[in-house]
Amino acid sequence: MKEQLAKIRAEALAALEGAKAAADLDALRVKYLGKKGELTAVLKQMGALSAEERPQMGALVNEVKASLESALETQAKKLEQAALEAKLKLEAVDVTIPGSTPKLGHKHPMYIALDEIKDIFIGMGFTVLDGPEIELASYNFDKLNAEEGHPSRDWSDTFYFDKDSRVMLRSQTSPMQVRAMETMPLPIRIIAPGRVYRKDEMDATHSPMFHQVEGMVIDKNVTMADLKGTLNLLAEELFGKGTVTRFRPHHFPFTEPSCEMDVQCHKCGGVGCPTCKGEGWIEILGAGMIHPRVLEMAGIDPEEWSGWAFGMGLERTAMRRFKIADLRLIFENDVRFLEQF
Ligand code: DAH
Repeated sequence: MKEQLAKIRAEALAALEGAKAAADLDALRVKYLGKKGELTAVLKQMGALSAEERPQMGALVNEVKASLESALETQAKKLEQAALEAKLKLEAVDVTIPGSTPKLGHKHPMYIALDEIKDIFIGMGFTVLDGPEIELASYNFDKLNAEEGHPSRDWSDTFYFDKDSRVMLRSQTSPMQVRAMETMPLPIRIIAPGRVYRKDEMDATHSPMFHQVEGMVIDKNVTMADLKGTLNLLAEELFGKGTVTRFRPHHFPFTEPSCEMDVQCHKCGGVGCPTCKGEGWIEILGAGMIHPRVLEMAGIDPEEWSGWAFGMGLERTAMRRFKIADLRLIFENDVRFLEQF
């Protein structure tokens, strides 16, 4: 029996040392230490021993058992360590390999222009607002004093969602004036950039979707001089010192008096050329003193408060700012074009 145990021990230890995986270890545990394992089989023979031999043999069996268990544990740890090392080796990063530079995108020229516009107005204490592109006709028209029958409300110009012409894609950012008046405490200084939609065919100067920046000031004793001073400053900051502007009388339902601001053509200096269509001037924005009726409709007393507002075309401004000839370039997003700015 002693030899039998010695043989089991020697065999088992050799097998354990040679085990390559956790599953092998498990099989060996069952083979030698399990209920039907080889050690148990030896124990079952103990009955045949004499009373003196029995405790000796029992002690020997226990010793073999303990040595196998400890060998099992040692081998299990070894395998675990080896697995970890293999994994680390596999995931090792070679920091000496030269890196690959990711290709970065490029800011769109129109958004470069918008960021400049925002900076200029934020510097003058304006807040930047964002508003809905799906708008109620009451905000886009009624509360801006554009009554039923006003040409801009026509189905041929405006994208409506319902047959009653009550919900629409906003055709201007001016509804943000009303939304600001209704929600903000006075005095108010805001700009509101965003997309607007009109039923226009795409060509070198038109698109069914384009961008505007709305601006509005309401305070006490605000006059047309404030409007001109602020917008002249905008033109100089945006297009360069000494930029020449011109204010022409115009009509908008929500302002009285109303005007349009032109900037002298950068190409010909006002003489007239293809870029300015021979005019010498490029129209940049519409503006005016807020109509007292618009203030009243928003619950603001026009006797106490007055204001001015403007709406400028962002694409057109970016085209003037970066000397871009065709509006379609702004929307095509050809990387070769965008990378120039
Ligand atoms: N909403 C006008 C347009 O789309 C532009 C405009 C003109 C906005 C005068 C204004 C303004 O705020 O006062 O043509």
